[in-house]
Amino acid sequence: MSSSTEFEPKIIAFVCNWCTYAGADLTGTSRLKYATNVKIVRFPCTGRIDFLLLLKSFAQGADGVIVSGCHPNDCHYTSGNFHARRRWIAFRTVLDLMGVDIRRIQYSWVSAAEGSKWADLVNNTVADIRALGPYAEYQKVAEYLEKEGFDEEA
Ligand code: FES
Repeated sequence: MSSSTEFEPKIIAFVCNWCTYAGADLTGTSRLKYATNVKIVRFPCTGRIDFLLLLKSFAQGADGVIVSGCHPNDCHYTSGNFHARRRWIAFRTVLDLMGVDIRRIQYSWVSAAEGSKWADLVNNTVADIRALGPYAEYQKVAEYLEKEGFDEEA
């Protein structure tokens, strides 16, 4: 009964308040159409994003994740986005070694003036994740770890 065309991926977007969140807001006020599959989580700056949140998102049912903030040299806290990018490069390598499907994570820059870029990012991410299908493997592992008491609350 189910097919890939019916699959509606759940996407979590971790965005900075000053650029990408404002850009997403502009998308709405400009009445640009984009997929509604994305739940936005706003941070003061991408430099504050704990990349373990990405794993937690997958464990709790996300099929894909977007991380987006200010363009290089536009960060309101000077270099938060550079810290985030460096950590992301290291974290991506670790995730890849762990077997996490890094095609499910999009890292991008979207400014407050780039409403159409935000719409494209969301639409492209939803299309890519839809093609990959649900991230059931990761969620099964997370459920097993939780059942065995390996979750972070233990
Ligand atoms: Fe946007 Fe730092 S304030 S990335």
